[in-house]
Amino acid sequence: MKKVSIQFKLNGVLRQLKAAPNDTLLELLRDKLGVKSPKTGCDRGDCGTCTVFMDGRTVRACLVLAPEADGREITTLEAISKNPSPLQKEFAKRNSFQCGFCAPGIVLSATELLKKNKRPTREEIQEAIAGNLCRCTGYTPIIEAIEAVAGKRGA
Ligand code: FES
Ligand code: FES
Repeated sequence: MKKVSIQFKLNGVLRQLKAAPNDTLLELLRDKLGVKSPKTGCDRGDCGTCTVFMDGRTVRACLVLAPEADGREITTLEAISKNPSPLQKEFAKRNSFQCGFCAPGIVLSATELLKKNKRPTREEIQEAIAGNLCRCTGYTPIIEAIEAVAGKRGA
């Protein structure tokens, strides 16, 4: 398949590369650009482990084709973690994650929620991270950390 030239800003830096039109943004990030926080889980939009910000909104990188990323601004957990947010500190303090495979996606989904909604209810938190599957924790320590940052007490 003929490769196409694409460019996008990745964590503030302009990146230019050639990609097959059916390469996914997830493949570009992990395999060509060495960005490992977005994980390959289901590879079909179900698990949320590949979540990144595209133009400030969360997307599933496994569902974004390379040409769709052209001209966009992509932000991954690597950029956010240079200066850990109160949310990340709260997750760490509470040991909210076990294996951590889901963590990058959940951090980005929760970050997006708290940007839009400073005082989300438990239901709104559950809804915001519903697309991010976690096999380890039962979600309670994750939700409680988000609630704590939002100024609420956990259950
Ligand atoms: S790997 Fe993208 S949603 Fe599961
Ligand atoms: S901590 Fe293991 S999948 Fe969430």
